[in-house]
Amino acid sequence: MENLAKKVSNSKFVVTLTGAGVSAESGISTFRDKDGLWKTYRVDELATPNAFARNPKLVWEWYEWRRNIIRNASPNPAHYAIAKLERTLQNFLLITQNVDNLHKVAGSEKIIELHGNIFKNKCSRCGKIYDATKGPVPLGQSLENLQCDCGGLLRPDVVWFGESIPHIEAAFNASSTCDFMLVVGTSGTVEPAASLPYIAKRAGAFILEINLNETPLTQVADYSIFGKAGEILPTLVQNLLTVQKFKV
Ligand code: OAD
Repeated sequence: MENLAKKVSNSKFVVTLTGAGVSAESGISTFRDKDGLWKTYRVDELATPNAFARNPKLVWEWYEWRRNIIRNASPNPAHYAIAKLERTLQNFLLITQNVDNLHKVAGSEKIIELHGNIFKNKCSRCGKIYDATKGPVPLGQSLENLQCDCGGLLRPDVVWFGESIPHIEAAFNASSTCDFMLVVGTSGTVEPAASLPYIAKRAGAFILEINLNETPLTQVADYSIFGKAGEILPTLVQNLLTVQKFKV
């Protein structure tokens, strides 16, 4: 751990990529683990533009159900450790696939939310963004409460399957210029996020993976630590603080 901390400390630009596993210890289900959301619910009924066009009420009900779970969740030690990493390092960027807002609640500021944020609504016609932190969306029969000023229907501001990723260029740029990438709690199976560690690796970065299990990335990562992010990350950051303290 001390050697890894030294490696982080000597890096010029550290990028951290997170996935659902980082929020698992906050009680938020992942997608592909044993009890994952996509084991119980169908992507094509809930998380595609076609699904929304076909049955917006069903999609909204599902997102409101998820919002309620997330509203009652708090960041865990992994989120706090990543926020501390940002404060400790000069050049740092967090790229998260999570839409749950918990990194921000924990204090992360240099962050790209690759798949959007569940606490924002977006007009499906004009794209205007609305804050949705204020409480549950009243889901009337005709969804009349979910209209934009322009008359378009609001939707959650999350990226659905088949849609483009708004900030992907910035994520590609960061991945190809960092010299250390920390990849935490992602199965590494959803593109384009799954490609980011490979881009970093090709550009010469050191890849450290933290996950409960092996993933496709394990083969190419320079080092993998298997265990809970909420236990491993605080130890890594604590070691980093010690290394920084005695750095000459
Ligand atoms: P997945 O559910 O695919 O993977 C979660 C990963 O976290 C797995 O590899 C687990 O082993 C690991 N994990 C679980 N608990 C952990 C813990 N406590 N500590 C460390 N690792 C842990 O979730 P993602 O890779 O984030 O996209 O999925 C990517 C995207 O697929 C999501 O952003 C979402 C989904 O469909 C959209 O909705 C667009």
